[in-house]
Amino acid sequence: MTDEVFPRTRQELDDLIVLDQVDSTNTWLRSSEQPGWVAVASWNQTAGRGRAGRTWLSPAGQSLAFSLRLPALPLDSVGWIPLLAGTVLVETLQEMGLGGVGMKWPNDVQVGEAKLAGILTERLPSGDSVVGLGLNVFGSPQNLEGRDATSLLESGLDAAALVDPLLAAWCRGMKQAHSLVEAGERDAISSRVSGVMTTLGREVRVESPEGQVRTGRALSLHANGGLLVAWADGTGESVLLAGDVWHLRAVDAATPD
Ligand code: BTN
Repeated sequence: MTDEVFPRTRQELDDLIVLDQVDSTNTWLRSSEQPGWVAVASWNQTAGRGRAGRTWLSPAGQSLAFSLRLPALPLDSVGWIPLLAGTVLVETLQEMGLGGVGMKWPNDVQVGEAKLAGILTERLPSGDSVVGLGLNVFGSPQNLEGRDATSLLESGLDAAALVDPLLAAWCRGMKQAHSLVEAGERDAISSRVSGVMTTLGREVRVESPEGQVRTGRALSLHANGGLLVAWADGTGESVLLAGDVWHLRAVDAATPD
């Protein structure tokens, strides 16, 4: 593949491999032994994987599958990487002028309540991470688990012109995010993530990995990146470390309980 494909993104990386078709860019990168800041991209991912063992639909030519390898980080802080991956994408899109973009916990990038991008982070036996980004560029899969989806184009952006600079900025941002995590800057990381997290202060419906469904109010991010939720049934608060969250109606912060 020539340097003409994603030239700006390529400049940020040690290597960028662009594949005409792949089962999953995450799976491909996991099995590659190439070290350094390496990424793989494809416009035709046939067996994309989502969080919680789900399938990620990437309509060929419409949605971009992109996976980036990150050098190893300490186990007690690596959990911030998926949150930072979404945060960096939201911040970059905001800088490019996209309104209404934010992150639903843990890291769904949304425009309003419609999903623009999903992120799947996997840790390798070496300690390196693979961060997989599924970005709806020209179109989006409909009826995605009954949730709305959107794309850069449907959001009113010049998707063809923006995709390379956006990916380049995301890769650059991920390198900076990696340095922040490595330096143990937890307060700075947490406030940056909270700054784009539209879930905070909202009434939410939560489904645990075991399938238990509860409602409550999302209060804040815990020091480990979990979501602190006050349960509506009066059973107190707990920190959600995994699971799915749906936003219910907005909560007026000025309204007393
Ligand atoms: C989710 O929201 O459930 C996460 C979706 C992550 C999809 C991306 S596409 C690139 C990379 N390769 C995969 O198989 N999955 C991730």
